[in-house]
Amino acid sequence: MTTGSTAPTYRGHILVVDDEASVRDWVTIYLKREGHSFRTAANGAEALDIIAEESFDLVITDLKMPKVSGLDVLRAVKERSPETEVVMVTAFATPETAIEAMKAGAYDYLTKPFKIDEMGLVIGRALEKRALVQDVNSLREQLVGRHRFEDLVGKSEAMRQLFDLARHVAQTRSTVLITGESGTGKELVARALHNSSPRAGAPFVAINCGAIPENLLEAELFGHVRGAFTGATSDSEGMFLAAQGGTLVLDEVGEMPISLQVKLLRVLQERAVRPVGGTRDRQVDVRVVAITNRDLDVEVAEGRFRQDLYYRLNVINIVVPRLADRPEDIPLLVHHFIRKLAPEQSKRIVEVEPEAMRGLLAYDFPGNVRELENIVERAVTLAPGPVLTATHLAPPSHGLTARRPCVGELPPEGVDLEAIVADVERDYIRQALEQSGGVRKEAARLLGISFRSLRYRLDKLDIE
Ligand SMILES: Nc1ncnc2c1ncn2[C@@H]1O[C@H](COP(=O)(O)OP(=O)(O)OP(=O)(O)O)[C@@H](O)[C@H]1O
Ligand SMILES: [Mg+2]
Repeated sequence: MTTGSTAPTYRGHILVVDDEASVRDWVTIYLKREGHSFRTAANGAEALDIIAEESFDLVITDLKMPKVSGLDVLRAVKERSPETEVVMVTAFATPETAIEAMKAGAYDYLTKPFKIDEMGLVIGRALEKRALVQDVNSLREQLVGRHRFEDLVGKSEAMRQLFDLARHVAQTRSTVLITGESGTGKELVARALHNSSPRAGAPFVAINCGAIPENLLEAELFGHVRGAFTGATSDSEGMFLAAQGGTLVLDEVGEMPISLQVKLLRVLQERAVRPVGGTRDRQVDVRVVAITNRDLDVEVAEGRFRQDLYYRLNVINIVVPRLADRPEDIPLLVHHFIRKLAPEQSKRIVEVEPEAMRGLLAYDFPGNVRELENIVERAVTLAPGPVLTATHLAPPSHGLTARRPCVGELPPEGVDLEAIVADVERDYIRQALEQSGGVRKEAARLLGISFRSLRYRLDKLDIE
């Protein structure tokens, strides 16, 4: 894992334990400057008192102190709050004591005298780890709590509003039109509507209007009588009647042939269907949920969709937002999918590296939630252990013509690949910004990356 400059600085509440006043002063001056809050203890016994009544994100403790040692402090901390990280400070590096401290659960150790940079790095990493554990735990809670509606999870404002609307609509029998890009979760919304409605015990029937040949779709929907056409050897009731009392989902309704649209409109108005070849109508009590990823306004304007049917379907419109427009949902969804997918593969995944999550947050997900689910599934399959790293959880690179830059021969002593890649990245980004006259959106286009991805890189590489 690399600690790039984009790594957020985690601030925490820190306890500093050392019997040398000069060390305490020196460390706390640094902590204050970096914006952490802290307390100090002049010996182990004092530390135990403080730990008993206050909790910390991080404890930095000297190992060698009279009476109550750093190891005693460490054990007390871990007993009271296992999630608190402990960094041990040793006066001389004897591997045994350091190893003993790590075994007892210390996160890391520092050898006196240590440099400020060194200490800063260790504190930063320890707090990051702490923040992640906190995240995983709080995400776990959110997954069972109010950040979900049936099988849908989401904590963004947009999704919370969607849940509220859907909960409300579920209680009515209104026709609903669900719109949104591919993979945003439209079908899941339709199921959630049904499952939380008074119709939950009745059938849920979904038909994909785009997948059934035009000449069969009418009979599929409305049924047919025996002999209505070649091959109709018996009566068939059709999807509307199959969904009697429940919910009928017309998926990809925008693909429905215009000839059939007028028949569907009639069914919605009359609440009755007439099977192909039949002479009698049959009453139906079905809630219709129509789904489309097309822009029906455009379809209507261009004459491919009947305006009267559009109005009939669009009584209540639920718009499912793009995933890129609600990045707050990404970590929650990642954990949701891990929980769903890992057991299927008999894997135990307990952690996602922050770097990996950052990579996902910078990606624009043209395939929306479905794409994220696929990425997580792949990562769970590839990960050998319980931690998903950025290598496993990598968004795909764009399929653009990646013209290969000239690469020199690998010298026998090897190269610093990360530095070289960063150089190439920096160079191309600068050129793109120059060519685009500083317009970032255009620069992103020239580089074949999303605007958000460019912003992430500018930040990472420290480019003005
Ligand atoms: N908010 C969510 N919470 C959990 N899972 C989700 C969520 N949104 C989508 N998914 C999952 O993502 C996948 C795609 O969702 P879904 O099939 O509902 O998308 P869609 O909008 O109908 O896509 P398409 O237009 O391509 O048919 C499914 O596996 C679904 O379970
Ligand atoms: Mg769908």
